[in-house]
Amino acid sequence: MVTVNENFKRLPGSYLFSTIGKKVREYKAANPDKKVISLGIGDVTLPLCKTVTDALHKATDEMGNAETFHGYAPDLGYEFLRHAIRDKDYAKRGVDIALDEIFISDGAKSDSGNIQDIFGLNNRVAVCDPVYPVYVDSNAMAGRAGYFNKEEGKWTDLIYMPCLAENGFAPQLPEETPDIIYLCFPNNPTGTTIKKSELQKWVDYANENHAVIIYDAAYEAYISEEDVAHSIYECEGAKKCAIELRSFSKNAGFTGTRLGFTVIPKELVVDGTSVNGLWARRQGSKFNGTAYIIQRAGEAVYSKEGQQETKEQIAYYMRNAKIIRDSLADAGFTVYGGVNAPYIWLSVPNGLTSWEFFDKLLTEADIVGTPGSGFGPSGEGYFRLTAFGKYEDTLEAVERFKRLK
Ligand SMILES: Cc1ncc(COP(=O)(O)O)c(C=O)c1O
Repeated sequence: MVTVNENFKRLPGSYLFSTIGKKVREYKAANPDKKVISLGIGDVTLPLCKTVTDALHKATDEMGNAETFHGYAPDLGYEFLRHAIRDKDYAKRGVDIALDEIFISDGAKSDSGNIQDIFGLNNRVAVCDPVYPVYVDSNAMAGRAGYFNKEEGKWTDLIYMPCLAENGFAPQLPEETPDIIYLCFPNNPTGTTIKKSELQKWVDYANENHAVIIYDAAYEAYISEEDVAHSIYECEGAKKCAIELRSFSKNAGFTGTRLGFTVIPKELVVDGTSVNGLWARRQGSKFNGTAYIIQRAGEAVYSKEGQQETKEQIAYYMRNAKIIRDSLADAGFTVYGGVNAPYIWLSVPNGLTSWEFFDKLLTEADIVGTPGSGFGPSGEGYFRLTAFGKYEDTLEAVERFKRLK
């Protein structure tokens, strides 16, 4: 008789965004005259820039012509895009990455969920708390997380690394030694990051303990400070222990277009086996490539004009971030993040829980945000606001915040 994967049955419901959606729908239905502003979305709002849409149009025309038509993409992705990535994302920063160490994909969500496929089930996994939920859920689905303890809001077999105001939202080296460590900097949801010297400590720790770091750099384009690494490979020895995930979603607005890549250096050898070779084998069997037109659009992001236009989009979001951060601080709130990332992490005032603050903000200011507890137990008492909204809405939202009692 057929059975299902029991690990899926242990997953708690996707409580966070469905609960938010339900509460907001009900509130809007009861208050049709109110203008509700969302600072909760993790999605971009600006359209693709002109250089990117021009490339999409051109590539689409090529697809309609017998001479320039493209079928299945090469396994690792087209060389024109991997060349651009190698030169502009890595060589430019003094990092030597080979073309066959870059794997083009349809985004960092799938790669961050799928990458655990190539590691043994007995590996101990460490995650930051709060955390982007995909790392946790994908390991739970594979059976590496144990059981979900509802009271604690934690999986029994994962190692949680609390990121709190007390430690500057920087994970501390865990007491139990993990085999796989997920790090994401700049961070979603806290909007904070760590300095290159701190990241170096993680690389050294991973190399000393024969652990692998899965480094999610989806928000790399938002880094504004000098001493922050744009790639983990800027750290000494990282090629021996780290996999890096990148996305075109937040730097160029590809959330609906889908494009990302994973870098696995050939020096990364686990148990005598090349991890690069395993991922090539995995992708060759389970993934059939990203569309030609999308890869051409990705290439356009690296052109001079594409760089200029996407930088302007990031500046637009980061202006929102600064407005939220500065205005809320002026109004007496304690805020973090928003300098190297489009997220602001707010300390919930007056001893309220994250969900109590969510209700207060919605009913008293018509603003939607995201309760920090939805990202892990250490997110309780915090609240995430995003800078991805419209400028005018952001200005109006902070005015409403100031009037909050
Ligand atoms: C930390 C992090 N990684 C990955 C992603 C997903 O990226 P993509 O759109 O490339 O799948 C997100 C999206 O919000 C994210 O916050």
